[in-house]
Amino acid sequence: MPMMLAISPKTGARRIATGASPTRDALLGATNGRTSPDGASEARPVARPFVKWAGGKAQIVEALVDVTPSRIDTYYEPFVGGGALFFRLAADPDRRPQRAVLNDLNAELMATFRAVRDDIEPLIERLDDLQRAYLDLDETRREARYYEAREEYRALVMGRGADLDVATLLIFLNKTCYNGLYRVNMRGEFNVPHGRYVRPRICDAEGLRAASDALANAELRCVDFEEACDGAGPDDFVYFDPPFHPLSATSSFTAYTSKAFERADQLRLKWRVDSLREAGARVLLSNSPHQWVIGLYEGSRYEIESIPARRMINSHGDRRGPIEELTVATYPLTGVE
Ligand SMILES: C[S@@+](CC[C@H](N)C(=O)[O-])C[C@H]1O[C@@H](n2cnc3c(N)ncnc32)[C@H](O)[C@@H]1O
Repeated sequence: MPMMLAISPKTGARRIATGASPTRDALLGATNGRTSPDGASEARPVARPFVKWAGGKAQIVEALVDVTPSRIDTYYEPFVGGGALFFRLAADPDRRPQRAVLNDLNAELMATFRAVRDDIEPLIERLDDLQRAYLDLDETRREARYYEAREEYRALVMGRGADLDVATLLIFLNKTCYNGLYRVNMRGEFNVPHGRYVRPRICDAEGLRAASDALANAELRCVDFEEACDGAGPDDFVYFDPPFHPLSATSSFTAYTSKAFERADQLRLKWRVDSLREAGARVLLSNSPHQWVIGLYEGSRYEIESIPARRMINSHGDRRGPIEELTVATYPLTGVE
């Protein structure tokens, strides 16, 4: 890990003590503590990402919660992806943001967020139908069904289909594709092959309802990140989780949309962080611990730390080892309130 050894003395970076994070099962089984009229506690799943997303923060979300201010007027997440941090905060009654502005440049992803927020019961009904039909098929027919759905989805995207149609297929494909990955080619076409899961959970009705609840007061945007946090000011919080600056030529994953995220975009992002800081907003940013990125934020204006993380999007098991993620903030990262 020579890269991190190089960071620490220069920037004063400390390793965040992530503590004992709840296990995945504990989070999945957790309830939001609602009590029914007869006083019995109702087991209701907490909100969590309804899609698996490359670069998703589910595995390090507790470490991020530790450095997220607890008092926030408006929560902004301009690169929302699966929304791991947003849903984790929304699941905690003490930390649930009153107002949230969530954004991603991936139009189909944001159509899916809108359908989950605004059209949840029809969406669940359709996913439930798809799940029943798919699970009844043998492997060969499942594969054929998958590629048929992928074609339907591509046609819908070309024709700017209705949110509910896009959301149904995006979730179906996300749950049945290889590695649960969302990736597009240069033409913007979803191009992930079929995955082989014995009983994929295509329709998690309760999880989807909880996500819909969490999104009830959220404003959903689909613009470039610079515009997505317009209006943020004092007492607001902005969490930036951009496509990471690649550590090496083979480690990059930037195929979330047909438009790559390049050095010029990382520079625009740095300027946006500066302007939000000047406007009084508190900003937290994740990125790769690349020396060039560290150089951008180095100096007394920003706090820089690292979080041990594990990237799951690499199809080569041997390249999935633990790595570090960079965390940059405009406020002190210890004793965050
Ligand atoms: C690392 S992922 C975010 C992961 C997310 N934090 C999670 O927990 O799932 C980065 C996201 O940025 C989006 N994106 C790429 N370029 C963008 C841009 N210029 N403006 C806004 N979003 C962009 C991608 O579509 C992708 O969903």
